[in-house]
Amino acid sequence: MLITRTIAETRAAIAQARAQGKRIGFVPTMGYLHEGHLQLIDIAKEHSDFVVVSIFVNPTQFGPHEDFAAYPRDFERDRRLCEARGADLIFAPEVSEMYPERSLITFQIEKLADHLCGARRPGHFNGVVLVVSKLFNIIQPDVAVFGQKDAQQLIIIKRLVHDLNFPVRIIAAPTVRESDGLAMSSRNVYLSAEQRAQSPVLYRALQRAKALVESGERDARKIIAEMQQLIATASEAKIDYIEIVSTKDLQPVERLDGQVLIALAVYFGKARLIDNIILEISGAHVREIAALP
Ligand code: PAF
Repeated sequence: MLITRTIAETRAAIAQARAQGKRIGFVPTMGYLHEGHLQLIDIAKEHSDFVVVSIFVNPTQFGPHEDFAAYPRDFERDRRLCEARGADLIFAPEVSEMYPERSLITFQIEKLADHLCGARRPGHFNGVVLVVSKLFNIIQPDVAVFGQKDAQQLIIIKRLVHDLNFPVRIIAAPTVRESDGLAMSSRNVYLSAEQRAQSPVLYRALQRAKALVESGERDARKIIAEMQQLIATASEAKIDYIEIVSTKDLQPVERLDGQVLIALAVYFGKARLIDNIILEISGAHVREIAALP
């Protein structure tokens, strides 16, 4: 497995793989890898012959009071995990390599960043689309795999690729959970033992929402109220948001119909955990979409 630190080395290594007729798969990460990331590598391997994993804690997607400096990092452990899972190259640049100077060109995201994390983390998705665009231009992958745990990010990236004609296919990967339902996240390390014990309440709240929809409830306010009540039983939980939006434009819906994203962000101490489910509703029929096509 190769490790590159500069854009030039990365381009040269990928050009060589391409010259051998290999298709390039890409898994962008901020490191501190867990099983969820490793399953993204598995999916990338199914769809390509040379898998590049980027490990870069991207400063432009963190707000001034967020956890950029504290974000967990362990390159040696990540390297071992990537190698064991069969990645071909890790691109792990320094901030100065990706941003030798402040970018003067930024993105404006309409609608898709108005709600959910976009509303609570101003500028976050501008930073995400900036770094992902740069990574796409550096790596020029045939396919790139993104986890559906970050559903708003996934939907924005799909739209970025569509609107800007990036020649890459985006593949969504289902959320990977601990055995008690907690969605895997690098930020789970921030949880105290008590917070960790309470955190599966988020998955239970999503399951409660799904059960309500399956039993015929279509009123978004009622579903959200039930989820709030359930999460309030966890003394350490502080709800940032619970929202139900259409997957088309990420705007809130009053009544559930078509494809909807039920998403939440909840603080447990300093850990801000996000999770979601996507449901497709057609009349009385309800289906969960684990990975958007
Ligand atoms: O999902 C993440 O880890 C990050 O937002 C990404 C896509 C690697 C961009 O920094």
